[in-house]
Amino acid sequence: MELSMALEEIFTFSLLAASLLLIFYLVTKSLKNPLRKIPGPPGLPLLGHILSLNPTKIHNQFYEMARKYGAIMKVKIFTKTIVVLNSKEACLEALSKTGTDFQGRPSLKRNQIVLPPNVAFSNFSDKQVMLRRLFTKAMKAYGPGVVHLEKILQETIQCLVDDIDQKEGQAIDSAELSIGYVCCVLASMMFGEKYSYDDELCHRMNRVNSQVIKTTDPFSNGVVFDVIPFLYDFKFLFKKERKKIESAKETFSNFIKTRIEEAKKSFDVNQMRGCLDYLIELQKQENDVDGQPLLDEVGLQGMMANFLIGGLETSRRSLAQMFLDLLHDPTLQKTLQAEIDSQYEPTETITLKDKVKLPRMEAYMLEQMRFLTQVPFMIPHMAVRDAEVAGYKIPAGTVVLMNSYHVAHNPDVFDEPFEVKPERLLDENGKLVDRDHPLRENFLGFGAGRRQCPGESFAKSRIFLFLANILQKYHVEVDGELPDRDVRKYPMSILLTPPSVKVRFTRRQ
Ligand code: HEM
Repeated sequence: MELSMALEEIFTFSLLAASLLLIFYLVTKSLKNPLRKIPGPPGLPLLGHILSLNPTKIHNQFYEMARKYGAIMKVKIFTKTIVVLNSKEACLEALSKTGTDFQGRPSLKRNQIVLPPNVAFSNFSDKQVMLRRLFTKAMKAYGPGVVHLEKILQETIQCLVDDIDQKEGQAIDSAELSIGYVCCVLASMMFGEKYSYDDELCHRMNRVNSQVIKTTDPFSNGVVFDVIPFLYDFKFLFKKERKKIESAKETFSNFIKTRIEEAKKSFDVNQMRGCLDYLIELQKQENDVDGQPLLDEVGLQGMMANFLIGGLETSRRSLAQMFLDLLHDPTLQKTLQAEIDSQYEPTETITLKDKVKLPRMEAYMLEQMRFLTQVPFMIPHMAVRDAEVAGYKIPAGTVVLMNSYHVAHNPDVFDEPFEVKPERLLDENGKLVDRDHPLRENFLGFGAGRRQCPGESFAKSRIFLFLANILQKYHVEVDGELPDRDVRKYPMSILLTPPSVKVRFTRRQ
């Protein structure tokens, strides 16, 4: 009896001592953690801020916090600390001034499974830099100013105009129209053929892309695998989510592999059709020091993934926002049309090189991108080594978000930041203000530095020609209810999504 009591005491004492040691270890570790000094809202032990963050409104929540905590802040998702940079200066310091310190990307389990290794979601490495160089080369081969891209865009716009003419008087859903146009241009650019709006390939591209986006949405249930990656190894857990991930992976992989196989079969170096042909040729030409192709088969698939996801998701939202603006502000529509009419005959083709002739149009495009800031926190960055930003030490491996949404709506810089006011970007002579004007510098919607969006010029060209051609030819009117145009009310799901609207087009005389 006495012996068992003594044992019990020893056991209790050991347990107490072990608990005290653990607490001591955790407290010392947390005291030593430099992230401790960064300001941020108080969170719950172990859970952090997970219960107070609302995924679909997180842009507003981070905005409010940014107003309170300043240039840098932190939030906690369970025990993981995420640093958020809120000022233009802090973002640019991390993106451009600290070399490669913050050019990493955290690994996201679902992305890793569904997509082949690719430029956008890979951590910073020599290989990522090399893949990015090849991606940019392929973009440039068909980029703005290149006759080929202009031809593709003009043909697709003609197709769009024919389609609208056929439906004259009928209401058209702005989201469908935008997706149709964006898919057609992207398919033509990638595969080099001319596609029409009802082409099955364009529809498939859209479906494949939507499935991937839904499956990897950071705010869907499957996020559990991103937060605790090893759970994916327990096959009996979260079966429904796992099924969705596997299915998206298969659909995506089949689509991309089939396109690559078909392109390789009919490849002719003397007749390059699109970016995919260009990449196939690069695959043959560019070798590493050991004579192996720099771009292997998986690398090529990753490139196609970047074209598809980067190219589809973003531009369609810009177009949806444009329709809302034109409908909410008939004066904007009239002034943009007056500018076009002053430079072009009604039947004259508007080309990319003439962009300078339409400063008001360009000012509007930049202003609506600022207003929307559809990728509000960019793609998450990660410190690749112990580093420093905004005067705080950041340990290697810390996830860092760039709050470009706050930068673009900072009331200290923008008067009425939640209004669309293109005139703020025009000088007294009606010219677009320079790139280094504070109002333009505070738009970081495409990122900056070594991981800046390589699709920026292409995206802008595509949007410019769409808008200019639509306004040259049509009056745009709403059919039915006009949803609010307030980015604070848009839901956040990977990107900020403006509501779609039914639009009626009437030919201008
Ligand atoms: C309005 C259109 C677009 C917007 C607003 C946009 C915005 C962005 C942003 C904010 C980033 C992240 C920058 C960072 O994390 O530092 C990014 C990265 C990227 N974008 Fe875009 N993008 C657009 C169109 C495109 C297009 C058309 C393509 C390709 C066809 C594209 C391909 C990429 C790629 C590959 C990356 C990853 C770059 C890297 O990690 O090195 N984007 N984009």
